[in-house]
Amino acid sequence: MKLEGKIAIITGAASGIGRATALRLAREGASIVVADQNEAGARETVALVEQAGGKAAAVKVDVTKSAELASMLAFAEKTYGGFDILYNNAGVTTGNPRYPDSPEDRWRRTVEIDLNAVIEGTRQAIPKLQARGGGVIISTASLAGLFGFQQDPVYAAAKHGVVGLTRALIGLKDEMNIRVNCVCPAVVRTPLVTSGIDALQGAAREAAEKQMSAMPMLPAEEIAEAVYELIRDDDAAGIVMGITLGDTRRVVDPPITLPVTSGTPGARQHPRV
Ligand SMILES: NC(=O)c1ccc[n+]([C@@H]2O[C@H](COP(=O)([O-])OP(=O)(O)OC[C@H]3O[C@@H](n4cnc5c(N)ncnc54)[C@H](O)[C@@H]3O)[C@@H](O)[C@H]2O)c1
Repeated sequence: MKLEGKIAIITGAASGIGRATALRLAREGASIVVADQNEAGARETVALVEQAGGKAAAVKVDVTKSAELASMLAFAEKTYGGFDILYNNAGVTTGNPRYPDSPEDRWRRTVEIDLNAVIEGTRQAIPKLQARGGGVIISTASLAGLFGFQQDPVYAAAKHGVVGLTRALIGLKDEMNIRVNCVCPAVVRTPLVTSGIDALQGAAREAAEKQMSAMPMLPAEEIAEAVYELIRDDDAAGIVMGITLGDTRRVVDPPITLPVTSGTPGARQHPRV
């Protein structure tokens, strides 16, 4: 898909990977709906896109609320006449204490934002993209969605869910020209990772800063570039793309393959699954 003249909704675009992707897609000529619960940050992203010569508009959304997701899609229709791309990117980690000690509201919040909102946002976007003749849905999963990420088991569970949803929707490409893909980054330098330090003081803060500076981290722009590639590539569907530091981006195949019954959506593109 060529981005010129297209409209992309990006959740979690007030910060980090979402903001970097807003700037990247706008550079290709897409108009951006900057969707986030952080209104000030969303307005800042719009200003940055506009300063770079692009087009963007901000909308406040809590992605855990179905009605607010619907309003976000309606906002894109009212402002730009529709949308071609939905990027489900908003996300959080569970924080401390680590599961199973985390209180119920904390782990449920992780699942609500990192998985349920992706399922619901995708569900709402599909008929609208179909009515437009097709489009792209992309989500930010994580490397934590591909291995046993012990630091945050609930985050790992939610991100595994996003990976599964992406693979299982491969058939939408044939059925309605909607390509569903996701990116799985390693550690990225964004407030999601660095903000924990702000809460610390004294020696604890010093130690955390030292540990952080020694940790290899991807720039958010690298993820934005991968998202752009998956949108641009008209063959990309059901793709789970791992992004690690120093390596090239790579498609991560499902570890188990099963025969499909004929008529299963996606059977043609993925005969091994
Ligand atoms: N930073 C990393 O190391 C890393 C690695 C792999 C995957 N990810 C994923 O990348 C995505 C983006 O994270 P980031 O690193 O840019 O972090 P970030 O904290 O910079 O950005 C996340 C954004 O999501 C927004 N958000 C959170 N809850 C929301 C809600 N309920 N409704 C609307 N917006 C909400 C926040 O306001 C924020 O602007 C997340 O899904 C995260 O899990 C991050």
